[in-house]
Amino acid sequence: MATDDLIHLARTHLASARNVTILTGAGISADSGVPTFRGVDGLWRNFRAEDLATPEAFERDPRLVWEWYNWRRELIATKQPNPAHIALVELERRAHDTFWLITQNVDGLHRTAGSQRLSEIHGNIWKVRCTGCGVITENREIPLPVLPTCRLCQALLRPYIVWFGESLREEDLRRCDQALQGCDLFLVIGTSGVVYPAAGFASVAKDVGALVIEINLESTPQSDLVDLSLQGRAKDLVPLLL
Ligand code: OAD
Repeated sequence: MATDDLIHLARTHLASARNVTILTGAGISADSGVPTFRGVDGLWRNFRAEDLATPEAFERDPRLVWEWYNWRRELIATKQPNPAHIALVELERRAHDTFWLITQNVDGLHRTAGSQRLSEIHGNIWKVRCTGCGVITENREIPLPVLPTCRLCQALLRPYIVWFGESLREEDLRRCDQALQGCDLFLVIGTSGVVYPAAGFASVAKDVGALVIEINLESTPQSDLVDLSLQGRAKDLVPLLL
């Protein structure tokens, strides 16, 4: 089917869907200039996740981990939501019975754009969690001290990120499950579909009978499973679905 026909079909399905759930990944923020993880210039092509994004790495060398997150905070601070983020805010505003946006992105751009019914399942780079008292706070300081500490108990702060080897928060898992079980349309945007549990969400949505649409620059492990696969940039395609 020609791309225009696919877009038209996707728009028609979205307009009639009552319960819409969306999953986004790094590809939606790539159009804002935030690096992805596994693309040609992806972060995991140049850095080792096991040195920077695991609890063991933080225990071994918190300074190195904070240096990396500080660098990413500086970079992300210069970026703005793009037309794809903004189109999802508009989609949320339209009268669906239920709407839920699940993002794996930690850059906070969905919230900056105005999305509210949102789970940031991998955390948020603008929040920190105390390794001592556990308190979570928003923190937009740039740069942070080399080893930032908690104002309340002086223990070391860590990025509020779900690292490899860690589980998603119970509340997020519950939310996602609810949003997936109840959806009749599931839209997946800009994720390579290799990191679980998010990588399994399209198949859960299929099992409950939802129509699944994917938007990505290229095909993914989920492309064979989805009902409609639209190839192109998120910033160009997502606004066309409204
Ligand atoms: P990846 O970097 O693995 O995948 C990005 C996807 O976006 C790829 O499939 C690209 O083809 C696609 N893409 C790139 N540019 C695009 C564009 N302009 N429009 C549409 N699609 C585009 O990122 P994620 O799938 O999000 O975890 O990675 C999942 C998790 O792995 C991340 O949340 C991160 C990482 O380790 C944490 O930070 C905890």
